[in-house]
Amino acid sequence: ADKATLKNMGESVFLVQCAQCHGVSGDGINGVAQNLTKWGSEAGIEDAIINGSEGMEYPLGMMSKAADLGIDNNTAKAIAAYVAKEVSAIKSTKNENLVSQGREAFGVCASCHGEDGKGMDGSAPDLTKYGSSEFVKEVLNRGKAGSIGVMPSFTDGRLSEVQKQAVGEFISSLAE
Ligand code: HEC
Ligand code: HEC
Repeated sequence: ADKATLKNMGESVFLVQCAQCHGVSGDGINGVAQNLTKWGSEAGIEDAIINGSEGMEYPLGMMSKAADLGIDNNTAKAIAAYVAKEVSAIKSTKNENLVSQGREAFGVCASCHGEDGKGMDGSAPDLTKYGSSEFVKEVLNRGKAGSIGVMPSFTDGRLSEVQKQAVGEFISSLAE
């Protein structure tokens, strides 16, 4: 199936399996669940750096928030620009002028995600997949008990592999 077909299938899956928590438009219903119009984008990366992330049970555990890693908000923005443009599946940035500063500051991230961002053989998330259906599939297979709330895993056969990919394509299309 091509991307457009998958996206349509994904929207149907989303309305049945996800919208009760994430909202019909994916906005997270005022903080009940992750706002998927932002997650998966450059702003989502910046948010993850500033607030940290936990609950997906990677071997490295949780990702500390920026302040605890000694990263200020301007540096977080620059790193997000670099990761969005040159590491993730997003492949573009709204802050081109910050990319080289972000590249230089990425070392603190590389200690867990690896120089290439691929997550060191599953120790941490593979950032090259961030912004793609592959990353969403990984979230669906793991679930997430984080600072917002509990996202169930979808490993009980409720969704086929194709449906997971489809809903991943749909979500990737929501992030601006
Ligand atoms: C101490 C190890 C560690 C460091 C340092 C670290 N991360 Fe992470 N990162 C993780 C782990 C583990 C996760 C998965 C957390 C979870 O379970 O939600 C993660 C998750 C992420 C995510 C996905 C968040 C989401 O919403 O799914 C992004 C994006 C990310 N990291 C980017 C970065 C960037 C950019 C840096 C550098 C500023 C960085 N990380 C530094 C370990 C780390
Ligand atoms: C029972 C409520 C619930 C359902 C159903 C649900 N989610 Fe979630 N989801 C959440 C919550 C809560 C979070 C935020 C977890 C956290 O970070 O604290 C979340 C987070 C996410 C994230 C971001 C993960 C990350 O790495 O930060 C994605 C992507 C996602 N959900 C996709 C989906 C999809 C796709 C479906 C349907 C197949 C779905 N969710 C169904 C509650 C739900």
